[in-house]
Amino acid sequence: MKNIDSHSHVRGESVYLDDVPVVRGTLYACVFDSPVAHGKLKSINTNEAEKSAGVVRVITAKDLVGENQIGGIVPDEPLLADGEVHFQGQSIAIVVAETEELARKAAKKITVEIDELEPVTDPRVAAANESFIVPPKKFVLGDTAAAFANCAHIFEGRTEQNGQEHLYIETQGAYALPTENGGIKIYSSTQGPTAVQRAVCRVTGMPMHKVEVDVQRLGGGFGGKEDQANAWAGICAVATQLTGKPVKYALHRMEDMRMTGKRHPYSSDYKIGLDKDLKIVAYEATFYQNAGAACDLSPPVLERTLFHCTNSYYIPNVTATAYCCRTNLPPNTAFRGFGGPQGMFVIESAIARAAERLNVTAAEIQKANLLVDGDEFPYGQKAESEAVTSWTQADEKYDFTKLYKESDEFNASSKYFKKGVAMMPVCFGISFTKTPMNQARSLVHVYTDGSVAVSTGAVEMGQGVNTKIAQVAAKMFGLDIGEVKVHTTNTLRIANTSPTAASAAADLNGKATQLACDAIRNRLFDVAKDLVEAASVDDLSLEQGFVFRNGEKTTLDWNSLVMEAHLQRVNLSEHSHYATPGIGFDWTTAKGHPFAYHVYGTAIVGVTVDCLRGRYKIDYVKCCHDFGTSMNTAVDLGQIEGGIVQGLGWMTMEEVVYDRDGKLRSNALSTYKVPDIHSVPKEIAVLPLETTRENLAIFNSKAVGEPPLMYGIGAYFAIRNAIKSFTDCSPEFDCPFTPEKVLMNLYR
Ligand code: MTE
Ligand code: HPA
Ligand code: MOS
Repeated sequence: MKNIDSHSHVRGESVYLDDVPVVRGTLYACVFDSPVAHGKLKSINTNEAEKSAGVVRVITAKDLVGENQIGGIVPDEPLLADGEVHFQGQSIAIVVAETEELARKAAKKITVEIDELEPVTDPRVAAANESFIVPPKKFVLGDTAAAFANCAHIFEGRTEQNGQEHLYIETQGAYALPTENGGIKIYSSTQGPTAVQRAVCRVTGMPMHKVEVDVQRLGGGFGGKEDQANAWAGICAVATQLTGKPVKYALHRMEDMRMTGKRHPYSSDYKIGLDKDLKIVAYEATFYQNAGAACDLSPPVLERTLFHCTNSYYIPNVTATAYCCRTNLPPNTAFRGFGGPQGMFVIESAIARAAERLNVTAAEIQKANLLVDGDEFPYGQKAESEAVTSWTQADEKYDFTKLYKESDEFNASSKYFKKGVAMMPVCFGISFTKTPMNQARSLVHVYTDGSVAVSTGAVEMGQGVNTKIAQVAAKMFGLDIGEVKVHTTNTLRIANTSPTAASAAADLNGKATQLACDAIRNRLFDVAKDLVEAASVDDLSLEQGFVFRNGEKTTLDWNSLVMEAHLQRVNLSEHSHYATPGIGFDWTTAKGHPFAYHVYGTAIVGVTVDCLRGRYKIDYVKCCHDFGTSMNTAVDLGQIEGGIVQGLGWMTMEEVVYDRDGKLRSNALSTYKVPDIHSVPKEIAVLPLETTRENLAIFNSKAVGEPPLMYGIGAYFAIRNAIKSFTDCSPEFDCPFTPEKVLMNLYR
């Protein structure tokens, strides 16, 4: 079953923010942002900008009617800088003009007087200054100190991980329209319509029932629009409030790259202890998260790092500590994996270090420590593990020994090209780690012509969630998918939504849709029972557009049933609520059962490094992946391939560069390299894990949005292995492994 958007996508007919028809009188906003990373804002001179052609208004912090605050977790993020600036790219003033060009032209005429202060860009420096956004967080299992005392082998080290630009194809933006009696309607490119609604209400001082947020779809979000769409919606809303006119702002690529936060860079320390049989007995990790200048989503990202600090392994003694460090970079934010990948990179580095010192392959250590059923995670939950099954099934299919041997044989006879192989097991927890967020609602209408309209809190951002939701309704009513239309995500139809994030949108909103359809179906069965003379409603089902009785098709079709029900004044609409059962987490003890389930998988990654030039090719990523029971193979394979390539990009070529002044140097696509068609592995093989286990996913179809990204981490270690077969050096754990860095390691 194809993605329902394929047809309009390839014809260029899908509607994004910039395709919403603009009404007459619309004005355009442009932000003037801070040219320095840290300083006292002495004055803002807007005179020239105000006199500039087409300018209607220039807005600064003092003009705001509501609160100058958009920080969702910690109130540390003004909409417009006031008194101080904390990062280059921080919004200071909004220019509102008759056209986009005139707004941008006028913004260039604003000048500011800033007394510069020393910027901090390094999280370890921030930590030394005790500049933390929230207090440190810690997970403890067993007793590491006692365990290290009895370890046969102990290795310690440090890892560095860089950030990642989201590079959604559609940049951030919003369009605000005044509605009657002082209301505002916002079109926003956001993963979190309710988050936008709250932020808009806060900065305008309006109540939530007067603000409508509508989202058709995003040209990608990848976490970058979970929280960071709020500012642009707030800016447009404030401008609409102050001018009475519709206001639109769609960022240019360089504005977006400069002004928005990215994946969090981390600097981390690890200490790993093994016994003589390669069992990991103890593990200590300390994570310094570069949060940037404001809280944003950094604390839950940091928590997810802790939740994933042991990846797919059972380690009986763990102490993991995490610091949320405030620096003068744009506030870093959610990015596919949400801190999980950062936690996994560190344990994989520790294992790689242990392996090279013990002269075994990392795979031997990885395999010896895979989670099995009942093993306890450092946060108390017990594993229902597919770590071993995914490893064995991948091995049976791909033959790891053969792949390692091929690589070794190639290396024996090749002087300047070297191959490297690495295994990457993944175990990723599904649910928002903040339990209250695991709820969703769905509104289903069956119209009298038999067609079905569904609205949920899920936002379509290319991941295919609308296709899955349409499938749920179609399946529940026994209809063709063409009979179901999934509508925009709108805060008037669905209130108090959680953002579309944590890979949980299809589960949460799909389950809510299933409940809504079930309620309507039950009412329809009551009507159908008499019409088809069934003994009980339990004998009825809906299939192929007909009522079936005891598995046999009757003459009663869906459309007739629906019309008859309507004539009998039966309700053909339902609004349902779903909340994931059985989950919870207690931060006072740092123990609980935060995840509905885990997604498992094992990948083997092979690369070839050109040892004269430092360039490399990813030859293959072959994985056995736990889909549960996939609802939609095409959509899920798309998520796996996209996730893997995005993970490879983060690990190999994407390099976010800020200079010491906190200025983004990789500020355009000419200086920030993302994977293209040539960097995609020559082979991506995906084997669905065979399992019959039940789970809490919609129709048993496990979440697929984020976990595959982490297979990409294997590429780092495969490249590292290739380098090690060329020289004796032991490369630092410092990602991404750009060709420059590879070359330096080859000839260190
Ligand atoms: N796939 C596409 N094409 N575009 C995106 O923006 N975001 C990813 C993932 N896959 C994304 C994507 C992220 S970060 C998440 S959390 C999930 O999709 C969210 O959607 P889901 O909950 O429906 O899986
Ligand atoms: N994942 C993704 N987004 C989130 C989470 C999470 O666990 N918590 C809050 N936002
Ligand atoms: Mo995804 S990082 O949870 O939006």
